[in-house]
Amino acid sequence: MDLYIDTANLDEIKQAHDMGILDGVTTNPSLIAKEGVDYTKRITEICEIVKGPVSSEVISTDYEGMLKEGREAAKIASNIVVKLPCTIDGVKACKALSDEGTKTNLTLCFQPLQALMVAKAGAFLVSPFIGRLDDISQDGMDLIGQIRQIYDNYGYPTKILAASIRHPKHMVDCALAGADVATVPFNVIKQFMSHPLTDIGLEKFLADYKKQFG
Ligand code: G3P
Repeated sequence: MDLYIDTANLDEIKQAHDMGILDGVTTNPSLIAKEGVDYTKRITEICEIVKGPVSSEVISTDYEGMLKEGREAAKIASNIVVKLPCTIDGVKACKALSDEGTKTNLTLCFQPLQALMVAKAGAFLVSPFIGRLDDISQDGMDLIGQIRQIYDNYGYPTKILAASIRHPKHMVDCALAGADVATVPFNVIKQFMSHPLTDIGLEKFLADYKKQFG
């Protein structure tokens, strides 16, 4: 399973990269705006740190605008994945960019037919938003399972990138449901190696050692 970090913060990206487990990065306009930095400059800086897929989202909502922005973004670095919304214009732009050899990530996926359409259009990644479905009292994890089954039924190579991951339980459930990738905020990634019994056990091992060997 691949693990991406969901942030535009360079310190967080560097720290996750240094852990040796980072496969890629996803950003979105909200995350880059939060950093208060230049949009393209920040994407370029991220691509200098991480060599795996880096998703850069378009701002346009019309086909022509998405295509133009997507082509510009693809020039930034060879690992750019153009992030497009799950809309009719997004599917059209996905098909056009995919045919040109540019990788795409179709974002804001909230139902299985969006995932089916973008797979038909050649998307590299589809991003179902788990947490935001949970927020409106739907089970986000059901969507991961449905997309997994549809893709497996027909052999679509589009990777399922579970997004809007809010806590470690989401990550466990995504892994069990067969998501290919999860994109996770740094504060949640840090929790993946944490258990109170690990801390208590380590403390006891060290105390016993000290008692006997000084
Ligand atoms: O980057 C897309 C997604 O992961 C956002 O998550 O927590 O804002 O719903 P969230």
